Parts: sequence; C-alpha cells; structure tokens
Amino acid sequence: MIRRIAVLTSGGDAPGMNAAIRAVARTALDLGWNVQGVRHGYAGLITGEFIDLSARGTSGIIQQGGTILGSARSKEFVTEEGRKTAIHQLTDHEVDALVVIGGNGSQEGAYRLTQMGFPVNGIASTIDNDLAGSDITLGVDTALNIALESIDRLKVTASSHQRAFLVEVMGRRCGYLALMAGIAGGAEGVVIPEVETTPEQVAELIHASYKRGKTHAIIVVAEGATYAADQLTHYFREHKQALGFELRATTLGHVQRGGAPGAYDRLLGTRLGAAAVDALARGESAVLAGYVDGKIKQTPLAEIAGKTKVLDENLIKLAAVLAR
Ligand code: F6P
Repeated sequence: MIRRIAVLTSGGDAPGMNAAIRAVARTALDLGWNVQGVRHGYAGLITGEFIDLSARGTSGIIQQGGTILGSARSKEFVTEEGRKTAIHQLTDHEVDALVVIGGNGSQEGAYRLTQMGFPVNGIASTIDNDLAGSDITLGVDTALNIALESIDRLKVTASSHQRAFLVEVMGRRCGYLALMAGIAGGAEGVVIPEVETTPEQVAELIHASYKRGKTHAIIVVAEGATYAADQLTHYFREHKQALGFELRATTLGHVQRGGAPGAYDRLLGTRLGAAAVDALARGESAVLAGYVDGKIKQTPLAEIAGKTKVLDENLIKLAAVLAR
C-alpha cells in the first residue's frame, strides 16, 4: 500500500527531465499519494534533502531544460554504506517507493536499492542513448537538434572558406549522438568509439570529399572515440603542409545538454513519468520505464543494470553511403 513516493533526477541532466518530474508528481497526486522531490540526486538522498511536490509546485516547468530538483554524481552512493544511509532517509521520511530519472549509472544505483529491499522504478533518461531498455531515452531528441543547429551553421561558414570542420559531440563511450547527428546533418564522415578510425583515415575522408567536388567537409566526432577532436586537431596541425586543407574544430560539450526540451522530449518525459507511477500503482517495482518498439514498456532493472545498448550496424553503414 503506497501513500508517499519520492522522485529524484540523477547523473547528467537531460532536456525533458522536468516533464517527467511533473508527470510523476501529478499522476501520483491523482492517486491520492503524497509526493516528495529529492534535491541533487543520490547525494541529496543521502543527506535527506526532501521537498514537498504539489501540483502547483510543478507548474511552468514542462518547457524548462535541466531539472528543477538538481542533479549530481554521488561517489558516496556507490558504496553499500551510502546506499544504507539513503534507505534510512527514505524510511525516516515515510517514503514507500522511489522513482529515479536518469541514465546508466543512476539505474544501476536504482537496481542496487531494490536488491536491498526498497521499491524503486526507473525512467530512462540520458542524452547518450546508451541505456538498455529504451530505444530512445529522454533528452536525446533535443540534444540532437541542438547539435544539428550547430552543424548547419558550421556548414555555412565551412563552405564559404572551403574548410574542413571537426564537430565533437557528447555521448560518453557511445557513438549514437555522433552517428545520428552525422546522418541528419549531412556530414562527410563520423568518428565513433564503435569503429576504430585513425587520423589518416579521417584525412582521407576529407580529401575524398573535396575530390568529389564538395566545398567543405564536416566530420562529426564522438567524444568517446579513440581519436577525439583534440587528438585529431593535434595530428592535423602536425601534418598541415602535407594535408593541404584548412581545418577547424568545435566542441559542442554541455551546450547539447542545456537546451529547452522539444515536443518529443516533453511528451516522452510525460509518458515515462506517468508510466513509472502507474507501474507502482499496479504493484510493479524494480522496473525501468522506456520506449520500446513504439510503445512505453517496463523492463526489469535486473535485465538492464550495467548493460549498454549496442549501435545499429546498418546505421553505421548508411552514414558512410550517404556521405557521398
Ligand atoms: O551522460 C551524459 C553526459 O553528458 C555525457 O555525454 C558526458 O560524457 C558526460 O555526461 C559529462 O558529464 P559531466 O556533466 O559530469 O561533465
């Protein structure tokens, strides 16, 4: 019998987290439950930073980027001692179940809490799209659109000057953002962790583009690639004379994370938030609310904890074909 739940956002923030918080709060309030927000992720859970979340308290946030609750990466929560303190805080505050909005590390943490006997449901949220249990995670669509806006602009100035550009995007060890930004941005090449690409091969991609009559070359580089923008820039600087083209590098970094959520992420966050609470109401816990095969689906946290999603090889091939 649930009377009170808590919700927290953890790890890197993602556009759409506020839509998820709002949906969690309002769906739970509709069931007659009390809703607590935990400030600053698992760190705030350990120190007991609870705030009351009302329907009005979650007004005017659906369109805001970031997370009104704040987020953190907690070293203490990784330890068993930290997790025990977290559970004490939850029981002291008479919380019956927790909803965790976050990516890989956060959902692994959620799973650990369920193993210690506390009911937790997750919401798949990370701009990296590397979390198993959801074809697309919260924040990806907005982050991609931000990357595309930058790529479109860089293309304009690259063409004016016949330059080559490296655009580094986030994604941790996953090349999803780079690959999709490359395909949707009409890039001449993508460099991702999943495919080993040497600086010489990148130089060849750029040369081939000029030979095909292009006025620019845009190479989208994932931050987790063996040779990311810094290393590639260093190589190109060293071989400037021999290469015969001018190159600039732009690292998009956290700019991708800070945007206001688009329609897709507002709706996804809303649907996942409601689904996580509905699952608790049905007595289901230790599951992750994600988007699978066109539907909202709950996947056991045990099945996804510690796993990362693999990139679709067909998309990697498609990126190379379309770069022509
Ligand atoms: O997981 C989201 C993410 O933005 C990654 O793409 C990136 O590697 C990382 O977080 C950056 O983390 P921080 O904001 O702690 O520097």
